[in-house]
Amino acid sequence: MPRILHTADWQIGKPYRWIENSQKQARLQQERVDAVLRIADVASQEQVDVVLVAGDLFDSSTVAAAMVMEVLEAVGSIPSPVVVIPGNHDRRGLARSLPLRTPGLHIYDQPVPDGSVTGECADLSKGEAAWFTSDILPLFETYCTLCHGTGLPEGEGQGTRRGAPRGLDYDVYELAITRNATTWARMADRTMPPMGRMPSTEELETLLEFLNCATAVQASGDDDDSAL
Ligand code: HEC
Repeated sequence: MPRILHTADWQIGKPYRWIENSQKQARLQQERVDAVLRIADVASQEQVDVVLVAGDLFDSSTVAAAMVMEVLEAVGSIPSPVVVIPGNHDRRGLARSLPLRTPGLHIYDQPVPDGSVTGECADLSKGEAAWFTSDILPLFETYCTLCHGTGLPEGEGQGTRRGAPRGLDYDVYELAITRNATTWARMADRTMPPMGRMPSTEELETLLEFLNCATAVQASGDDDDSAL
């Protein structure tokens, strides 16, 4: 039996407007972040398999950047995966507000299509380079190549790979299709991209179809030089 620590309504950044003393407001806001550190302690003591945030991680989409960073660091200290679904306070596309890569954070802000990379493909042309260039590359450019891009230097800041594994790049067809099952797994479990905008359900469907067809193309031997 998996052990789930079920939480909700962290509402980080709640402004407490009805409290007149601004120091008290700040203390109450801080208390919400500190509570996340206590959740981390409980998760670690109880050896839970997953921490669930069943809605409203943030109070709004306008939480101060410093507080967003602080809570993400607190989330990063939770030893288990943290699974977040949005609530009515979180705006749709919650993940967009995240400025920091937070290992273990899974944000299910949109339904993820069922399926996996089996190599099943109705139309092989959707696994080929021309389709990649016309329909798939724009998606990878939106979501992936800012870290997984061939021209990027190693490093941590903007314009660098930010730790993305070398050789796993999505701007070149041959490289983009080397790890199809892993590529899908990391999009489906919502850990890639690790921050910023996340692909929508429809975009995920398109990407899954491509990964399946690219796998089929590879298996059919059309693409002999892309072993692996
Ligand atoms: C902000 C930078 C960034 C973006 C954007 C990004 N990644 Fe990553 N990616 C990383 C880093 C850092 C790692 C290594 C740490 C990890 O595995 O979490 C990684 C690891 C991976 C891995 C695991 C490789 C392995 O060896 O297990 C896959 C697959 C992956 N990314 C796919 C993607 C895809 C697909 C996208 C776009 C949908 C994407 N990434 C967007 C930074 C990024």
